[in-house]
Amino acid sequence: MNMDVLVSLSKRRGFVFQSSEIYGGTGSCWDYGPLGVELKNNIKRVWWRDFVQNRADMVGIDASILMHPTVWKASGHLDHFTDPMVDCRECKHRFRADHVDELPWTHYCPATKGNKFTIPAGEPCGHCGQRRTLCPECGKGELTAPRQFNLMFKTFMGPVEEDAAVTYLRPETAQAMFVNFDNVLQSMRLKLPFGIAQAGRSFRNEITPGNFIFRTREFEQMEIEYFVNPNDKVDGRPADEYWHDRWIEDCMAWFRRYGLAADNLRLREHERDELAHYAKRTVDIEDRFPIGWSELMGIANRTDFDLKQHSKWSGKSLTYFDEERKEHVVPYVVEPAAGVDRALLAFMADAYREEEVRGEKRVVLKFHPELAPVKVAVLPLLKKRDDIVRTAQTIRVDLAKHWRVVYDDTAAIGRLYRRQDEVGTPYCVTIDVQTVGDSERGEVGDLRVTIRERDSMEQIRVPIAELSTVFRELLDGAPWSQVSGRYPSPRG
Ligand code: GAP
Repeated sequence: MNMDVLVSLSKRRGFVFQSSEIYGGTGSCWDYGPLGVELKNNIKRVWWRDFVQNRADMVGIDASILMHPTVWKASGHLDHFTDPMVDCRECKHRFRADHVDELPWTHYCPATKGNKFTIPAGEPCGHCGQRRTLCPECGKGELTAPRQFNLMFKTFMGPVEEDAAVTYLRPETAQAMFVNFDNVLQSMRLKLPFGIAQAGRSFRNEITPGNFIFRTREFEQMEIEYFVNPNDKVDGRPADEYWHDRWIEDCMAWFRRYGLAADNLRLREHERDELAHYAKRTVDIEDRFPIGWSELMGIANRTDFDLKQHSKWSGKSLTYFDEERKEHVVPYVVEPAAGVDRALLAFMADAYREEEVRGEKRVVLKFHPELAPVKVAVLPLLKKRDDIVRTAQTIRVDLAKHWRVVYDDTAAIGRLYRRQDEVGTPYCVTIDVQTVGDSERGEVGDLRVTIRERDSMEQIRVPIAELSTVFRELLDGAPWSQVSGRYPSPRG
């Protein structure tokens, strides 16, 4: 699947727009449109429901983005949250030193009288055999030696721009869960193991953002800090190691449950030398994005690093009293950390299909119904008939009390179906003459409407009075075949 196709569909159908587009756009910032915000909210909602609401061992918080600046000293972000950066001496373009060889590069080939070529990332020139040594962008300038660049956005708290007022936009949501550890523990009277979850915005001044919403400077994360007693054993294994594996399995299962194909997902174990300064072990869940295999989320065993650091820098005890052993312990923490925007990109790319239906191309987003931005579209077959339109509007109002439902009468039915397929609406309801009857001919309506299912394109006739019950069943996860078997098809 090609990223340009997704970018164009996203703009055309109101999922994602370039930020401040009328001013020429803001580098790597994106705005979610009317359908994008529904999709994004649905992802966060099911994540929160499955990992917080449904579990007795989880609670949530919603912390402020601006935190005390010492948080970032204690966490190591001020000293370590850096990427190596190189500049082109000629065109002044900036690159992450460790990403330069992943870019296609511009080359003026000496074997072809200096002709200009764009050569795929990592490959030598097919004419002269040279490999890239100069700037990949302009092909002329030398690159500077790498220097470290801190990725945190700096700002000032209050009206005076002085050193004492410096603060940072959070680069991850995680730290608020550590600094609130004791508040949450005491207020909720929790027992280990337990987790704190948070979904919210994070900011990173990425040197080379890009690939649509994959790497941006402002994004949303859904993070969990799961605290365990390091002295406990589960199934004969240290509790932190057991829970790390459990979370890896649970997160993989979650992405599969909402539609990512098993062969588009894989695990990648971090090598020793790439582990973050706080991690004992980290495993990434990678997805086969349109740009190739890349990180969708990370699941790290952060040990007791963060609680110990915040205890040291704040002077406050951040321990848990182990009643059984009668001792205070600093819990270990397992951290499943996912990006909302990356999850949205993965769900969209995986759902995208181009199919041929009766000789015509149909584009369809096969979203899991829980993620689909619109659940039901109500479509009158004849917009000139007041009784049909009135019935359709009444049905929309009724169903909209429970789900996101749209009404559309601006095209012929075939076109309306294609429009809904393209944005992933799982069900369409059509209202026709048979529904309302024809008073001029003395015919009464059967008060049934047609429900069309997106993936199979099958249709059934359902009494209007049963619509809410049928959609409740379907949208709660009942398979289409289970429901469709109970009703006749339109011509049946
Ligand atoms: N607290 C740990 C942490 O933040 P991370 O691997 O740096 O770990 C977690 O980030 C997830 O956040 C990533 O797997 C990715 O999905 C998302 N993420 C990180 N940086 C991002 C960026 N610049 N743009 C979009 N998503 C990003």
